[in-house]
Amino acid sequence: MTSVLETASAVTARAPAKVNLELGVGALRPDGFHTLSTVYQAVGVFEEVTVATADEWGVSVRGRDAELVPTDESNLALRAAMLLAERAAVEPVHITIHKDVPVAGGMAGGSADAAATLVACDALWDLGLGRSGLDPIAAELGSDVPFLLHGGTAVGSGRGELVTPVLARGSYHWVFVPTPASGLSTPEVYAAFDELSAGHDVPEPEPSPAMMAALRQGEPEALGAVLSNDLQAAAVRLQPQIGDVIDAAMSFGALGAIVSGSGPTVALLAAGQEGAIDLAVSLTASGAAADVIRAIGPVAGAHVIPAPRLT
Ligand code: C5P
Repeated sequence: MTSVLETASAVTARAPAKVNLELGVGALRPDGFHTLSTVYQAVGVFEEVTVATADEWGVSVRGRDAELVPTDESNLALRAAMLLAERAAVEPVHITIHKDVPVAGGMAGGSADAAATLVACDALWDLGLGRSGLDPIAAELGSDVPFLLHGGTAVGSGRGELVTPVLARGSYHWVFVPTPASGLSTPEVYAAFDELSAGHDVPEPEPSPAMMAALRQGEPEALGAVLSNDLQAAAVRLQPQIGDVIDAAMSFGALGAIVSGSGPTVALLAAGQEGAIDLAVSLTASGAAADVIRAIGPVAGAHVIPAPRLT
């Protein structure tokens, strides 16, 4: 029987953002990346990507921070489609991205675009690769892209691209505070980390038993107490107002407050849905945050959805 996807000329997929519950950074490797041990959680802020057969390759971007996203061949979604196309004789596609994830915020919005594009093109071109078949291509595109294919809660090792699911109970309510100032570039934050750790021994990072125990327990209070990020000091040094947001959030009752990935977005763990609403209101009403995004984690990774949204 012919499936709908086999005859479609456009496919839409969406992919979530991520937060690093734990981000252990090791030494700089000869290839310019750092050894990582991280625990990722996919959170319910989504990028939506439609790929449609077209005469030439192209990309257009709508939604949050759209004007900051490049639409030339440096666009990660376009690179994802073109890299996958090298595997098969396929027609070009035009990619339409609808963004909800802040650009350059440390929540992996660009990586989510790439993950959604891979899943959508796999369906459009009927390649049948599935998530595991797409993994090596995802890894070539960026350290976070394989995790965003899989979603859930997982340990990332290598440079972040080697993903192993972990046993994690519970559902968590997050409040994200994107800083209004311009984003921090990931390489810049890693370079500041190198400067701060110069002259010290940087141990090989590994998942902490305390984090694994908190995830098995599934209580937000337990998880809030063990959130950690080795890039936080570097991010705060580059953008000191991050530290003010963290202090304000803790005083308003957050269970934990951490820089998301390489920042500058701050991720706050709240006590349930009511706690998240209270925290969001306190932060915005006090002026400590201009804008907040609420999301639940964990959620599923990149997947095809029936149709694009209309707005
Ligand atoms: O893999 P991704 O494209 O996200 O990496 C962007 C940059 O972040 C790298 O070029 C590198 O400077 C830095 N990075 C790193 N170690 C990692 C991941 C990223 O130094 N494990």
